[in-house]
Amino acid sequence: MTNKLRACYTDSPDDLSINYFPLFIRTEKGKFLALDLGGTNFRVLLIELSENHFEMKSKIFAIPQHIMLGSGEQLFDHIADCLAKFMKEENIMKERLALGFTFSFPLRQLGLTKGLLKSWTKGFNCSGVVGNDVVQLLRDAIKRRGDISIDIFAILNDTTGTLMSCAWKNQSCRIGLIVGTGSNACYVEKQKNAELFDEPDAGSGQVLINTEWGAFGDNGKLDYIRTQYDKNIDQDSINPGKQFFEKMISGMYMGEIVRQALERFTKEGLLFGGKGSDLLFTKGRFYTKYVSEIESDYSGVYTNCREILEELGLKHATEQDCVNVRFVCECVSRRAAHLVSAALCTLLNKMDEPHVTVGIDGSVYRFHPHFHNLMMEKISHLINPHLKFDLMLSEDGSGRGAALVAACASAKKR
Ligand code: BGC
Repeated sequence: MTNKLRACYTDSPDDLSINYFPLFIRTEKGKFLALDLGGTNFRVLLIELSENHFEMKSKIFAIPQHIMLGSGEQLFDHIADCLAKFMKEENIMKERLALGFTFSFPLRQLGLTKGLLKSWTKGFNCSGVVGNDVVQLLRDAIKRRGDISIDIFAILNDTTGTLMSCAWKNQSCRIGLIVGTGSNACYVEKQKNAELFDEPDAGSGQVLINTEWGAFGDNGKLDYIRTQYDKNIDQDSINPGKQFFEKMISGMYMGEIVRQALERFTKEGLLFGGKGSDLLFTKGRFYTKYVSEIESDYSGVYTNCREILEELGLKHATEQDCVNVRFVCECVSRRAAHLVSAALCTLLNKMDEPHVTVGIDGSVYRFHPHFHNLMMEKISHLINPHLKFDLMLSEDGSGRGAALVAACASAKKR
């Protein structure tokens, strides 16, 4: 597995986004805005930085499905609308603040404020955006409104935001990881090893590499472990043939993998006395949060499990059914944790730094009761024995990281 991941990098170097961000940003002060698009929620944040301290206000806005699948113009108008509403509520309509934009999709990044969308992932599919600069699309939408003015100072991936915001607290943070709706990681690489990065060394000798590892396996390298469930999930997705690794791991798909297994075992007479329910047989109706809730039951107790099965119209489930349902959930979440750990170890072993902290965000890592422990155990097996690591939960990582990068970039301009 680890060697294959490395092979994937060298096979398709075009898929790497390489960015440089300065890692020491503790001295910036003032108010900064951030937008965070790409996970379960869209968030607008206002961050006030003072010496070694920050205050943060944020608001979550929904992105309705018709916008996720509509036109790019509709999406960016909606984002600008949410931003304006937030600025009004916070009484900063008249201020011209620096903004960092966390945009968590694969980008061909051409600079700190220029990124062309390579492809949509995670349920988004807005027309007219692929191949275009998303910063410009946001600027255009803000201009169309005419009631707010903003300086966009940075566009970054959520992994980068997570790394930046963890590094603000803990300078041994060298990897940013997301295990949420999607999955991805970025890491700090020595600039001399980044052959595709031809800008002069800005002083640190380091660059951030966004691996976009969700796409690992799209070239067939994971076929030997992809199951029929993984193949069905891919076929039914809005981006078939893409993001194979992500589809085996992340929150957008985990519940559906479990549901498919439960459907099959029911139809084979192995679960629920062979009698399923409409909801159990409905695609997408076994939510990933159920996996976390079922595995949160104390061992031998099935309170959450029973409640969820009842909600799904499976009141007739026996104690043995509950044992089996929990087992299926454990198999699927354990596989996800092990795959993430294997990929992470590839990075840790490649970096070969004595001690690396991994900043992590995302709903699966945050809410699954055993994900952290499963990862700790598996990484300890796979990491080169002389290396040490920590896994650090990032609080509001990606959005806050965007504001920190905007703070740094705007200070540099001054
Ligand atoms: C995107 C990445 C992102 C990850 C986690 C993936 O679908 O391609 O850019 O970092 O999700 O949000």
